[in-house]
Amino acid sequence: MVSSVLRVSPGGALSGAVTVPGDKSISHRAVMLGALADGTCAVRGCLMGEDVVSTMDAFRAMGVVVEISGADELIVHGVGIDGLSTPSKAIDLGNSGTSMRLLCGILAGSGIDATLGGDASLSQRPMRRVSVPLTQMGATIETTAAGTPPLNVRGGAQLRGIDYQLPVASAQVKSAVLLAGLFAQGRTTVRETAVTRDHTERMLSAFGVAIETTPGRVSLAGLQRLTASDIRVPADISSAAFFLVGSAIAPGSAVELKAVGINPTRTGVVDILRLMNANIQIQREYSYGHEPVADLMVASSELQGIDIPLHLVPLAIDEFPAIFIAAACAKGTTVLRGAEELRLKESDRIAVMADGLQKLGIHAETFPDGIAIQGGQLHGGTVDACGDHRVAMAFAMSALRSEGAITIDNAAAIATSFPKFAHQARTAGLRISDS
Ligand code: S3P
Repeated sequence: MVSSVLRVSPGGALSGAVTVPGDKSISHRAVMLGALADGTCAVRGCLMGEDVVSTMDAFRAMGVVVEISGADELIVHGVGIDGLSTPSKAIDLGNSGTSMRLLCGILAGSGIDATLGGDASLSQRPMRRVSVPLTQMGATIETTAAGTPPLNVRGGAQLRGIDYQLPVASAQVKSAVLLAGLFAQGRTTVRETAVTRDHTERMLSAFGVAIETTPGRVSLAGLQRLTASDIRVPADISSAAFFLVGSAIAPGSAVELKAVGINPTRTGVVDILRLMNANIQIQREYSYGHEPVADLMVASSELQGIDIPLHLVPLAIDEFPAIFIAAACAKGTTVLRGAEELRLKESDRIAVMADGLQKLGIHAETFPDGIAIQGGQLHGGTVDACGDHRVAMAFAMSALRSEGAITIDNAAAIATSFPKFAHQARTAGLRISDS
């Protein structure tokens, strides 16, 4: 159980080797594709955070046996693409947008009826971005009048493949359309103008699905079956990001992050921090199946404010709370634009981070699509994470450079992606208590 209030004493440095938990995006997809496959799939290094548990429970409610076979190991007994059964009650997906959007694509094609709901945060997140293309494919999906959950998905209709241009840079929308495309007649093509994470494409390929990817375009023929394949999940670069930033900002730090996924659609945080003069080395590159992995070394250095290049925004979309803390500790001003999507995450990450930074004495000016942060001296104080896991962990790391203690309210959502964050951060040197 992660406490909802975190207290972090100021100062300290990070050191040692840290293995953060499994990648959340890949863990969700392993459960989903494992469930839809013919055969049994062993998943190693799976994130056992609340979000992935929501995905597991959703598939259990549809008749899939998901066995927990170790601390971070699962065995998913696939039922085949036509084997899901109608759940007896509404499926609660907690805080997890990835579960809801990807599941929507699967349910749209699988011929069963289901209602998908979630917690207060998920209930405010936009779902038309998936219901619109899935409806074009022939699905019936009802949202609230505001386009938010709960969603009623009605199965039964034979879907048709579409050629879809993503209106927003979103791997969740791309994935929902591709997953629905597995059940559709004809080809499904998704086009994107900005690169988004490609874990769905890589894992479908590992499961034997013929999928064509060319820059800006991905396409598959419908009515293909999936063959179970064992999956090894890399450590999550989005969780590693807190240690990258903590170690970069705290003088005297040096941390080695083990077996981190370095899929090029996810490494924007490394590029941005390096542009800010962070000292990050990528060592020992290898791969876990279709996903590249490496050990990352990060040591403290004097950070500089930068204008964040636009093309890196979707490649670092989940890491901005941590990057904003780096910006607060850098010399000069860091400017982010083109990131309106940040307002639609587990919280409005532009508003919530700006509010917290200002409470800690940092000057932050917000724009509809970004923020400008002037580096300065962080005071102590109390910030509100507003139920957002990444905001809570980012502010925890800020204490490494603050003058006084930092208290973070509404931090329980850390359990969605990094249940042992406080313990691992404390072991590395953060002066954090979670009582
Ligand atoms: C995810 C895609 C991203 C990301 C989210 C996970 C995924 O969301 O922010 O945490 O696993 O596909 P968007 O598709 O909304 O950008």
